[in-house]
Amino acid sequence: MKYTIVGGTGDLGFGLALRLAYNGCSVVIGSRSKEKAELAANEIKEKAGAKDVSGMVNTEAVKIGDVIVLSVPSSARENTLDTIKPYLSGKILLDVTVPLTPGNITKYNQPEAGSNAEETQSIVGEGIKVVAGFHTVSAVLLSNLNKDMNGDMLIAGDDAKAKEVVLDMAKKIDLRPFDAGPLYQARTLEGLTPIIISLNKKYKKRHIGIKLTGI
Ligand SMILES: NC(=O)c1ccc[n+]([C@@H]2O[C@H](COP(=O)([O-])OP(=O)(O)OC[C@H]3O[C@@H](n4cnc5c(N)ncnc54)[C@H](OP(=O)(O)O)[C@@H]3O)[C@@H](O)[C@H]2O)c1
Repeated sequence: MKYTIVGGTGDLGFGLALRLAYNGCSVVIGSRSKEKAELAANEIKEKAGAKDVSGMVNTEAVKIGDVIVLSVPSSARENTLDTIKPYLSGKILLDVTVPLTPGNITKYNQPEAGSNAEETQSIVGEGIKVVAGFHTVSAVLLSNLNKDMNGDMLIAGDDAKAKEVVLDMAKKIDLRPFDAGPLYQARTLEGLTPIIISLNKKYKKRHIGIKLTGI
């Protein structure tokens, strides 16, 4: 399984790529800039002691991956989707983006479609399997290989097989993932991010996550 991280030069994408590479996965970093992607890939190789990491422009990176992680700012999501859409056929698209209110990142800015992930699904069309997840996973924690992941994570999507692949991906980086149901649940999952941001601010932390009980 090859994981392509569109926006893999950014905070969350880099952390995800680093953890995946550290755990022996094949990773492709996507960026708008080939040079930036290659720099990030080299840094990951060095930090993770990994070999199977490469960097290229987003469109080339998407052609290679089986799972495409969309990890760009919410405001850049539609433009990025327009760029990569022609290359998504047969892939799983994992949308980790969260719409936050401009000027108040502790408040969810719900799109008309209900959630970013649902809007993403309507942009790419029903043929592409969209899964939403990783909204409560800290980029700071992901990027620090000295710290255990030690957390739960909820995903949502309409395709059971695609969700299995994403659940397996999360297990590979030592998260305990759960299937929270259809893609429309993404509106609740995305809404958890501003709560996590609020908690981090209030308790002066940088890597608060979630854990379920009673499982
Ligand atoms: N950070 C977290 O802890 C966290 C947690 C949960 C969810 N999220 C969500 O994950 C997504 C990524 O977060 P992040 O903090 O990693 O974002 P980020 O660092 O600000 O950006 C990620 C990457 O997106 C690309 N990008 C930036 N502006 C762009 C534009 N205008 N058009 C196209 N590409 C652009 C850049 O890559 P290139 O310049 O290399 O193209 C950048 O490195 C966000 O939607 C966020 O809500 C983040």
